[in-house]
Amino acid sequence: MKVRACVVREKGKMAIEEVNLDKPRASEVLVKLVAAGVCHTDAAGLNQVIPVTLPAIFGHEGVGIVEEVGVGVEGLAVGDRVIMSYPSCGTCEHCVNGHPWACDNLNRLFFDGSFKDGSKRFSLPDGTPVSSFFGQGSFSEYVVVDARNAVKVDVKSDEDLAKLCSLGCGVQTGAGAVLNSLEPKQFHTIAVFGAGGVGMAAIMAAKIAGCSKIIAVDVVPSRLEMALELGATHVVNGKEVNAVEAIKEITNGGAHYSVESSGVPALALQALGCLRREGKCVLVSVTGDAEVPIPLEPYLMNPSVTLIGVTEGASNPQVFIPRLVQYFNEGRLPVDKLIKLYKFEEIEKAHEDSHNGVTIKPILVF
Ligand SMILES: NC(=O)c1ccc[n+]([C@@H]2O[C@H](COP(=O)([O-])OP(=O)(O)OC[C@H]3O[C@@H](n4cnc5c(N)ncnc54)[C@H](O)[C@@H]3O)[C@@H](O)[C@H]2O)c1
Ligand SMILES: [Zn+2]
Ligand SMILES: [Zn+2]
Repeated sequence: MKVRACVVREKGKMAIEEVNLDKPRASEVLVKLVAAGVCHTDAAGLNQVIPVTLPAIFGHEGVGIVEEVGVGVEGLAVGDRVIMSYPSCGTCEHCVNGHPWACDNLNRLFFDGSFKDGSKRFSLPDGTPVSSFFGQGSFSEYVVVDARNAVKVDVKSDEDLAKLCSLGCGVQTGAGAVLNSLEPKQFHTIAVFGAGGVGMAAIMAAKIAGCSKIIAVDVVPSRLEMALELGATHVVNGKEVNAVEAIKEITNGGAHYSVESSGVPALALQALGCLRREGKCVLVSVTGDAEVPIPLEPYLMNPSVTLIGVTEGASNPQVFIPRLVQYFNEGRLPVDKLIKLYKFEEIEKAHEDSHNGVTIKPILVF
């Protein structure tokens, strides 16, 4: 079928044009998009900081309605509302262990945009295959995805579904970093560096987990205000004060946990330095090949600190996304506070507003 999609043929250049989309093969579904979130990882691919195979269709926070199911798909039917997430092969040791975020085939499935069998579903009018970023390419009216990365959800309206785009990546990453990787004990303390879409999700999750002190660190006052609205008990402006000292004071010696989600490589050291002994730090920022020297002795070994790197919040989408939807339905994960809606045709503006920090989570509506 012919669909309108935002195609990137060369670094940094987007254009909405008509492309071909194949029918879903075995274990795949065709989804008509309702909306798609814009994540910073799309920009990293667009600008080739992550060397995604071009031409490509970006977008990996799509939500929509199942329109056709391929042979052998179980648990999904035409008309189902789905939140799409990241792909995984389903057969490597990590997938089999229920840890798809660590899939052996992650790089190819995320960034080469080919499916498990090595082929692609989108093509240009001249037949050139087009990558589906994260096995999705959701900056398109329709996508074909593996049924593993389409999660059926209990959402009452398309309007509500559109609010939940970032459960497929950004919110799953931040909330999962806390609830899956750190698993905080009730009343323990946590510091979150970077109060963007991912950090705000970490803050909401820390509140759900019952943390007693939730400290948001950012450099933008409006972000810190919103962090207080979403569950932070304290805020620290990293431009005005020494964040590590401030956190140590608030927590009487250091936080039990920290999340680094600012995207600024050097803050990894602060996220480690603000911990108490036996603290745990999780890094989720995409920082390319940036290097940060960590003095091992005062930071890791002697204080018995754990440093965790994780993709997609150590989340198994089929299990974790329905849980996040339930938190949203109960009013405990108000992700709608982070979003602003744009028409699909305003995709350049949505990227610009995301880049400049005007909008925390732009959502393109189809
Ligand atoms: N690991 C994963 O699976 C995964 C998934 C999604 C996003 N990410 C990455 O997570 C990171 C955060 O994403 P996001 O969407 O929340 O981005 P964002 O730009 O919305 O948030 C970053 C925040 O950090 C703040 N910040 C910038 N400099 C700072 C400083 N010096 N001190 C304190 N705060 C500072 C910004 O003001 C902003 O609020 C990005 O690197 C993104 O690519 C990773
Ligand atoms: Zn795998
Ligand atoms: Zn993302």
